[in-house]
Amino acid sequence: MKVIVADTAGFCFGVRRAVEKVYEQVENGRFPIYTYGPIIHNESVVEDLEKKGVQVLQTREELEKLKEGTVVIRSHGVEKEIYDLIAKKNLNLIDATCPYVKKIHKIVERESKKGSKILIIGNPNHPEVQGIKGWSVTPVAIIESEEEAEKYENLEKKQVCIVSQTTFNYNKFNKLVEIISKKRYDIIVLNTICSATEERQTEARKIAALADCMIVIGGKHSSNTQKLFEICKKECENTYYIQTLDDLDATSLPSMGCVGITAGASTPNNIIEEVQKKCQI
Ligand code: F3S
Repeated sequence: MKVIVADTAGFCFGVRRAVEKVYEQVENGRFPIYTYGPIIHNESVVEDLEKKGVQVLQTREELEKLKEGTVVIRSHGVEKEIYDLIAKKNLNLIDATCPYVKKIHKIVERESKKGSKILIIGNPNHPEVQGIKGWSVTPVAIIESEEEAEKYENLEKKQVCIVSQTTFNYNKFNKLVEIISKKRYDIIVLNTICSATEERQTEARKIAALADCMIVIGGKHSSNTQKLFEICKKECENTYYIQTLDDLDATSLPSMGCVGITAGASTPNNIIEEVQKKCQI
């Protein structure tokens, strides 16, 4: 049986970098070590780190109670206020914010200081969007649907600076920008979508179209894995969604033909390799 593993399966650059930074702290023995939120949406990685003594801070209040230690900021980034709090408390900061997200923070800070109004296209409940919002010195608007774009108003008639959540859908972003453009405000548009997600989806679609069976690996709460599953299922009826090797029912795999494998952004390489080996037996 032929097995094709997507090159883009698993961690993107920003997530890999963040996870590595936490393991580096463990190796350096800079305890107590905390991550501000789970470093990735993958239970096995978070559990492994917990066993090594890394604790997850779930809320700002928990951060506020700390007296010492190292705090790692994950790839999604955080609002400026959290940096200020860490500095005020004299904690050791390890900033694993993805550089692509950091770039958006800088744009939002700079443009809002210049007097522009910030408009973020993205999911208002997502921590990355909340972090981006927290770099503006003026009130921020967040939209994610065509309806919200239609309703958007710039009453002060100031320049509007539009940025996007890194994982936002490219076509949808363009559609929303088109709606805002019709309002004839003075706008600057900075497309800050990261290509990692789109590349992973495009490759998954191509492999699924060739494969007799497709395996998508990722956490059950991972929205990007769910999306990958939907894409693959459209191309290949025999698509399976698993979290770890234990979920894989080898008897359901075809004995001949081609099996494709892809994985969401929070799936570590060792899980992908285990699944690959199992398929090759
Ligand atoms: Fe960074 Fe793009 Fe990943 S913004 S965290 S490399 S999806």
